[in-house]
Formats: sequence, C-alpha cells, structure tokens
Amino acid sequence: MNAVRHRLLVSLFTWAIALVATTAAGADAPSPRERLLADLGWRFHLGDDWGIGQNLAKAGTGRGPASVEFSDASWRRVDLPHDWAVELPFDPDADGAHGFKALGHGFPQNNVGWYRRTFELPASDAGRRLWLEFDGVFRDSTVFVNGWFVGRHESGYGSFRYDITDVANYGGRNVVAVRVDASEFEGWFYEGAGIYRHVWLVKTSPLAIAPDGVLVYSQFANNVPDGPAELHLGARLTNARGSVMDATVTWTVLAPDGSAVANAQRSATVAPGSTLDVEQTARVRTPELWSPETPRLYKLVTAVASAGRLVDQVETEFGIRTVAFDADRGFLLNGRPYVIKGTCNHQDHAGVGAALPDRIQYFRVARLKEMGSNAYRTAHNPPTPELLEACDRLGVLVMDENRLLGSDSMHLGGLQDMVRRDRNHPSVVIWSLGNEEFTVEGTAAGARVGAAMQDAVLRIDPTRPVTYNAPVGNEFAGINSIIGVRGWSYHIGKESMDAYHAAHPRQPNVGSEQGSTVSTRGIYFDDPSRGYVSAYDEHAQGWSNTAKEWWSFFDTRSWLSGGFVWTGFDYRGEPTPYGWPCINSHFGVLDTAGFPKDNFWYYQSWWTDRPVLHLLPHWNWAGREGQEIDVRALSNADEVELFLNGRSLGRQRMKRDSELRWKVAYAPGTLSAKGFRAGSMVAQASVETSGAATSVALMADRVAIDADGRDVAVLTVSVIDGQGRVVPTASNSVRFTVDGPGRIVGVGNGDPSSHEPDQFFALPAVRTRPLDAWRWQKIANPYADNLPEVAANFEDTRWSTADVRSERGPLGYGERAVFRSRFRLSGDELAAAAIELWFGKIDGGVSVFVNGKKLGPAGDPRGPSIYEAKSLLRAGDNTLAVTLACYGGAAGINKGAMLRFIQDAPPSQEWRRSVFGGLAQVIVQSTQQSGTIKLTAQAAGLNPAAISLATRARERRGVLP
Ligand code: GAL
Repeated sequence: MNAVRHRLLVSLFTWAIALVATTAAGADAPSPRERLLADLGWRFHLGDDWGIGQNLAKAGTGRGPASVEFSDASWRRVDLPHDWAVELPFDPDADGAHGFKALGHGFPQNNVGWYRRTFELPASDAGRRLWLEFDGVFRDSTVFVNGWFVGRHESGYGSFRYDITDVANYGGRNVVAVRVDASEFEGWFYEGAGIYRHVWLVKTSPLAIAPDGVLVYSQFANNVPDGPAELHLGARLTNARGSVMDATVTWTVLAPDGSAVANAQRSATVAPGSTLDVEQTARVRTPELWSPETPRLYKLVTAVASAGRLVDQVETEFGIRTVAFDADRGFLLNGRPYVIKGTCNHQDHAGVGAALPDRIQYFRVARLKEMGSNAYRTAHNPPTPELLEACDRLGVLVMDENRLLGSDSMHLGGLQDMVRRDRNHPSVVIWSLGNEEFTVEGTAAGARVGAAMQDAVLRIDPTRPVTYNAPVGNEFAGINSIIGVRGWSYHIGKESMDAYHAAHPRQPNVGSEQGSTVSTRGIYFDDPSRGYVSAYDEHAQGWSNTAKEWWSFFDTRSWLSGGFVWTGFDYRGEPTPYGWPCINSHFGVLDTAGFPKDNFWYYQSWWTDRPVLHLLPHWNWAGREGQEIDVRALSNADEVELFLNGRSLGRQRMKRDSELRWKVAYAPGTLSAKGFRAGSMVAQASVETSGAATSVALMADRVAIDADGRDVAVLTVSVIDGQGRVVPTASNSVRFTVDGPGRIVGVGNGDPSSHEPDQFFALPAVRTRPLDAWRWQKIANPYADNLPEVAANFEDTRWSTADVRSERGPLGYGERAVFRSRFRLSGDELAAAAIELWFGKIDGGVSVFVNGKKLGPAGDPRGPSIYEAKSLLRAGDNTLAVTLACYGGAAGINKGAMLRFIQDAPPSQEWRRSVFGGLAQVIVQSTQQSGTIKLTAQAAGLNPAAISLATRARERRGVLP
C-alpha cells in the first residue's frame, strides 16, 4: 500500500553541517510519531469455521469474525507473540520434518486460526496516518479492520504493514481480525503457526518518514576505517496530503555516550501523494568502531520539519564499521581479517515454539557468544527484527538470509523488503539469497534469477556482499558463477574447496553451512528406539562432518573466511538420524532449551582464547563398574592430565582443533583433569558420581524483570542429590505453580523425543442452552425502519412455528419474513461474564434484534453467526427477532440456535515437565503488575524448590491499550 514513489521536485538548496554539537531542530522534542506495541489482549480461535471471511462482492462487509458485530467472547485470550503449532499434540502421522505436530496436510481442523483485537482511537487521530505493522505471521494471513479487507500476505517470514487510515474509526472502537492459514509449509523444519512476531500500530503525520525509510551507513577511503567516517544519511519521505509539502530533514548523530557528534540537513519539496528520497552526508571525526568485541552503537535521530513545525522523528541505532570478503584473506572486519565462528539457526525455542519473547533472543545470542561464536546465520529466512537488535547490542555478525529464490515481483519485492528493513543493523555483514536450491541452482535460469536478485540487493545496499548457500563441490555453473561470495554448504575437502579456489582465485568464499554432527545432550550410547544418539562428536551424516573435521579444515584456510555450524541450537523437526519418536533435530551444539551439549566446549576451546577444559561423559555408571568408559577432554590447553579418584591416568598433549581420549575402567567417585600451558596449570575440571536424587532446585537467569507483560526470566530446573550435584540420569516429572504477577509461557527440557506438552492453557468455560422455540411470519419489507414485528412485546402467538435445526429454511425465492423467539433468563444466568447468541447458519439474514433493539446485520451463510448480547438482555422475559429476505433457493435460520454463557478461563493452570539428564527449563513472564512472582517446583519423593522474582514497574508508554 506504499504510495507510488516519485523522484520529483528536487530541493532548491541543500547543505550539510558536519561536527556541529548543537542539537538539531526537534531532536529533543517529542516525536509526533507514535509506535504502539499491539501485542496484548487478543482473542484466538482455532478452526476454519467461516471460510475466507472476505465478502468478494461488497466492500467493508467482512464476514464472520471479520465483521465488527461478531462476538469473540468465547475465544481464548492470548497475547502475542503466539504460536498455535507448539500447542498442538504430536502425531506420528504428521510431518516429521515439521516436528510431528498435528498440522498441515491431513490436519485441516488445525490449520486455520483467527485472531481478533479491539482498540479505541481518539477523535484527535483523525488526519493522522495509521499503519498496522506485522513483523511476521505464519502464514498466508488476511487482515480486516472494521469489516474492511486491508491486505493479504502469504510469506510466513516477511514483515508487512497496511495503511488503515481510511478505514479506522476515529473517536471509537476499532476491530482488527486476522485470518491465518498455515495449511502449507514453506520449509522442511518447524515453522510454527500464527502471529508469532510483534504487531504495531504506528501513527504519523501525513508528511512523514516512510516505513523503513531511514538509511544510514558509513564509508571510509579504501574500506578501511582509518580517520573520519563518512556517513550516508537517507530519509524516504511520504506525503499523503493533496498538496505539495516543504520538508526539512535534520539528521543528528549521537555517539555511544549520547553526545551529538554530527549533524546534517537538507530541504526538499514533496509532491502530493508521492514519496521522495532525501539524502545527505555527514562526518564523524573519530568514530568508535562496532565489532563483536566492541558493539558500540550510535544513534541517528532523523527529524522532519515542515512550515517550521516538527512533523516526524525517528531514532535508529547503527554502528560504524566496514566489512569485506576478500578472495585471499577471507572476511575482513574494519579492514582486518576476522574469522567467522558462526552458527546457523532456525527460530524456535523450547516451550514457546516460534513465538519467542524478545528476551529469549538475547538469552540465545548470549549463550552462543559464551561458546565463542561471533556470527549467526538466520537459516533459512529473514529473522524477527529483535534478533538483529540482540546481535547489534551483544555483538554478533549476521548472515541475513532470504527464504526463496525468484526474480518475480513477489520474491524480489520480499527480498528488497528484507534488505530495507535490516540494512541499518551493523550486525548484518552479508546477505544470503537462499539455501540449497538443488533443482535450479546450476542452471542458466538459476544464474539469471540469482543475478537479478543480487542486483536488486546491491541497488539498495551498496555496502554488503551477497552469497548463496550452495550444496555443491567444485562446480561453478549457475548461481556460483554470478554470486559475490561463494557459499559452501558442506563439501569440505581438497578436491572440492581447494580445487574450486584454485580455479576461481578471485572469488571470496564463506562456509555458510558446515558440520551437522548429531548428538543428544547427556547421552553417551546410541539408543535408536528412544531416538537418542551419543554426544561424542562422532555422528556426522553422509553429507556432513563432525565438528573436528570441518573446523580443523577451515582453521587452516584463512581464504574460507570461517563458517557457520549447522546448528547452534536444536530445533523442532528434522529428527535426523531417527524418525518417530524423535520430534526434533540433534544438530544443535546446544539443545532446544539452550543447555549445552559437549561439543559446546569443543567450539569454546578453539573459538576463544581463555583456558577451557571439559570432561565427558558424566560419571554415573552404576552397573558398569570395571567396564571401560570412553573419556574425553575438550580443551585448548597444551597438555591435559586425567585423574580418577586422585590417581593419575596420564598426561597427553593436545593437537590444535582436536580432543583427547582415555579408556577408563569405571569406578564411582571423581574423574578430574588439569590443563597445562607452558607447564603451568591453567584449568581444572571434574565430573562426580552423584548420589540419589533428593531435591528439586531452581535457578533464574535474572531475578528481577520488568513488569511490562513481555519480559521473561529463564529458570533452570534441576534434580539434585544431597550435596547439590545435578543427577545426570534423573528424569523426574516436576510440577510448577506460579503466584503473583507472573505466568509461565513455556516449559521444555531439550529431550528430542519428549512428547510432553510445552504449553498448558484453559479455554473459557461455555455453558449452552438451545433456543428451539421459534415462530415466523412473512412480511413485506424487512428493511423498513421501526418494524412492529421486531418489537419486544409484539404478539406472535398465531405465527407458524419454525424448525431452526433444519438444514434449509422455509422461505422461497423472493420471500421476506421475521423469525421470533422468546426465552426467560435467570439472574444467575445473567451473571455470566458474557452471553452470546449463537446461530448455526442464517440464510438470507437481514438484521438481528434483541428486546426490540437492533444488534447488527444478520449473519453469514457460511458459518456460525455469533453476537454478544449481554447488555441488551434482562432477567425474566426476553425476545429475539431476525429479519430475512430470500435471494437464493431457500432462506431461514438453520443448523440450530442457542444461548452461550461464558466464564473466563481460570487464571492459573498447573504446568508440568520432566527433567531430561537432570535438567528442564521454565520460562516465566511478567504481567503488567509489579510485585513478587513466586515459582514453586515439586516432584514426587523430592524436596520442593521455590524462587522469587521481583518485577519492576515500567512506564506503560508505547503499548496499545
Ligand atoms: C542442509 C540444509 C539444512 C538442514 C541440514 C541438515 O542441507 O540446508 O536446512 O536440512 O542440511 O544437515
């Protein structure tokens, strides 16, 4: 819905003021723009009960939930982000690649969901521009506002927005309805279902910065940050007014310490109904460079004034740095070779599926950084913006990946949307066109499509190169021949990588996808029946390599730029190497909850400089006394000495990018190790045989969170022995309860074969009462005002009785009628939270009246018509009237009618999860109240645990009430 872009009416005069410390006009003034988070207070219904909702014949008349009158009082209350796939049961007949959730082909009852939300708009918003923004919906969503269709978006990964200015109701209630159809998959991995990212309501002046209309990047001579940074500043202005508008854009650059360090300005005139790009440059004399080690962030304040008045202002975080991929030296960050130590990741997490609270993005990125990883590939789709924000702030490089190849307008448009949205993030260092398009990548058409896509990216981002994850060896035909940076999906080896590099010495390379070792956390013997595979770094698949194999190859070839291991975290789906009962992948270096598997310390050893020493396996092998256990040390020490119960089992020298092994006859006790560098001890590690489980323990990643209804604490649940040691073989089932202003939003344990629910929720309680007694009578004109036949006390006893349970009503073509029903309500019934009138199907409906008052237009012949009627009902006698006109074969009230008395769902539910390898995870979210949240964990036969989390009051700005 973006206005057509016109490059017209160039400014008469422009100037730039560099290094001016004074604040630009408006930089301190509140922006006339409002960006309100619309995540809280939605209603959700699972089921395809109303068709597409859209009335293709008449405007503004969305049907069923898309209509304003529809009642959603019996729907579940949900807050976004929300993923209904994670709530579904596992089913062996479902798609294993998507994690065996009962979704997709064969599960039509679970594939369509409806969301509704109402909000008020002040009358004073009239004249502003209103946008409804969706960061991502899986998938094929149709959005209605106040009964109007406002847009349809198919991709489950792109961000999109609709201009709802014209259809909004100013000074009153507005209804947003979203139909989401997840029947089709877009990938071969768990993808979730629903509005799984944020929704925003954005209000701007009619002359404003267009969506994603800010551009900022830095450049240096020779792409080496030596001396001042030249900033390129851009603002795309959009003028929704019917007249030409003067605009002055002022850019203020704030350094990481908040001081203004550069300033620029430019004036322009923007034609009516058009957009205009306004650009300028500025200089930062002594820039603080962004890098994973120094994630220094600047802020750009882009202010737009017109006729002396501030009309818009947007703040954008950015970083100053240079990136390049060099054919000989590999990846260069800020002019220097910088080895990419990356992970590929899908976007789901234990407990919450694809609907990650923002904080979980930070939690995950921090875990990866702890491992020594400095880069993240958003396999195989554009990420949510908060992931990039976490990478900017914590310091992680990003390969930002597009979902699908295509140079048609939809795919090219989606690609450019991704680039426009993400190009100001310093973390993003390279774009990826896509992943492993086996069928087309080697063809001439593939090369042409790839080239068109690459050009489309470079046109709007001249600062970063483009790659593509190519699953082939020494092959140049197709996309590899046109791509800026050759991406390597597996295929390590001299005949492939070395030979390719020799044949194409001018093309840079990157290990875009490597590894794919499979392992289960805490498991040291393969167990196909339970779907577990040992955590020794031994199980690569036919196409892939162990951690040691790929990393030792890359570590000796700097021209490869480093690479991204498949994957950082386990994800749902792709349960390689086993199928059911396995429901998630084993590829992760960490499990779905972020608990590290042993390979975590392999990477930490070779990806960090600090001394690392880790021993595996655990040391609880009751029943195997005297048998040889395969013991390994993961370390970057020069030498490691191993001890069992204090007795040395020998010292070994470590080879770079390797590990050390011992065969040890098992005896309970303590297995310990010392790591030495240059003869001095630099690290120690031990694993101890634990005693029997005695207690549950809880540990929080943060004990104080914001009381904003969004922030979360991540709790580690462990089962411990009398000395506080985790029992690595424990699998006790633990029950959780929450008191205070908090709620659990998900539970998990990283067990790839667990079929326990991740989510527990209750639906509102609905009690129904049939409305069977109906009478009907033909009338001349059901559209007339003040029809006596719909009045509360109208005498209808001589009318014919009507059977409303039938499939087909009594009216023939051209006939018109009124149906009436009387019923009594008790005071108790009237006390329900909501009372709905429910009609199975109204054919030919005109209007519905309650006690003589019009409730709304009558119904939709494709699905149930539901109205909230409590405010029009009374204790004692009540009357319903429905007017009808037959334009089809037959009309009437069909498929039954009833009253539904609704009580909201009970506030808290008991949640449960077993520990796996002694550990589980609970994610606790704040409500909007401050106070103390208390989480209690209990398991049969064990001492319970409790933990308190403080919630800090937060100003409620920026949230749509
Ligand atoms: C790759 C693919 C990934 C994943 C992986 C498993 O070929 O790009 O999505 O399937 O294999 O090893």
